[in-house]
Amino acid sequence: MKKTLVISYTPRENSNTKKMLDFFIENNQDKTEITFVDLAEEAPDLLLKEHLNLYVNRNFGGVELSDEQQNILAKNDRMMQQLLETDFVVLACPMHNFSIPATVKAWFDAVIQSGKTFTYTDTGIKGLCKNTKALVLMTSGSDFSIEPYKSVNFATPFLMTAFNFMGISAEAINKFGMIQYADKSEQMIADAKEEIKTVSNTWY
Ligand SMILES: Cc1cc2nc3c(=O)[nH]c(=O)nc-3n(C[C@H](O)[C@H](O)[C@H](O)COP(=O)(O)O)c2cc1C
Repeated sequence: MKKTLVISYTPRENSNTKKMLDFFIENNQDKTEITFVDLAEEAPDLLLKEHLNLYVNRNFGGVELSDEQQNILAKNDRMMQQLLETDFVVLACPMHNFSIPATVKAWFDAVIQSGKTFTYTDTGIKGLCKNTKALVLMTSGSDFSIEPYKSVNFATPFLMTAFNFMGISAEAINKFGMIQYADKSEQMIADAKEEIKTVSNTWY
């Protein structure tokens, strides 16, 4: 059975993004082995001074870390390993301040690792997760599909670039304007469910 890694940051009570994700899970849980990572309950470690230097020394400098040092990186390494071992990723989160929530960025900082999920070659950078596919489920309060907000959607370009950097082909189902078009939010979720079905059918 193919594996699916679900990365969720949907902490709000009655979260609309969670409704989309729950539908994905209900619709597919018999077809794939799901690993669920709840970034609203446990955040990856930030790359503060100690973590950053251990990571750089190990992954870029080839330094062999002691067990104790390795242990400091263990949580983030576990998250990266989950990504290396999966066939599919579903990442669900709302837009926060024109971008992704901080815990989601911390997850990318944990899993984008030189020598593991990407590497340097003579011809440039190569992603090492070539057989993995990703689906992003995102909502926002305002309508980021039109100006003046369209050009300041830093979430979607980041997410697509970060997945592609690791060799992962990614697509997004975005439902923008949940607050702006509050009267249409139910319809938007219903539309998202149809789109989720379509993507799921191509995956499993
Ligand atoms: C901390 C925070 C920051 C937000 N930043 C934005 C933003 O930059 N643009 C926007 O359109 N909506 C923003 N919103 C609104 C949410 O993206 C929107 O309500 C979303 O649909 C919430 O998803 P949920 O129902 O899954 O919680 C923000 C909400 C919060 C709580």
